[in-house]
Amino acid sequence: MVERFYAGVETDPVLRPLYPDDLTESVRNTAGFLAQYWGGGTEQYSDERGHPRLRMRHGHVAIDTAGRDRWVHHMTEAVHAEHLAPELEAKLLAYFEMGATAMVNHDG
Ligand code: HEM
Repeated sequence: MVERFYAGVETDPVLRPLYPDDLTESVRNTAGFLAQYWGGGTEQYSDERGHPRLRMRHGHVAIDTAGRDRWVHHMTEAVHAEHLAPELEAKLLAYFEMGATAMVNHDG
């Protein structure tokens, strides 16, 4: 799912410039964080990266509502492609919508 999301980021003219050239670590960190957040152990994220502090970690990235919308769009496509049970899919989508909105730190 995370790989599919970043494949969307890679082609997105709004989001691509926000990310590092090499997305390898972005894929790893995002997948590890999500595994931890949804009940996996800390070995996939916090043992290496420390406390998530996601808003702080996004502080150097200018995230406006247009960027948020693009982000949610690609994540929604990636979630749909998993063909999950409807209640699980709904939970993930609600989380990503809420989380992405919380990451907005820039007008526009
Ligand atoms: C629920 C919403 C979100 C989650 C769970 C999330 C999660 C993450 C995680 C775990 C990382 C890696 C942090 C690290 O360990 O360094 C990351 C990096 C990043 N995120 Fe997000 N993110 C969210 C929303 C957004 C949005 C809305 C944007 C932009 C529109 C965004 C842009 C970025 C960028 C550009 C990086 C890479 C920063 C860097 O490597 O310097 N994120 N995100």
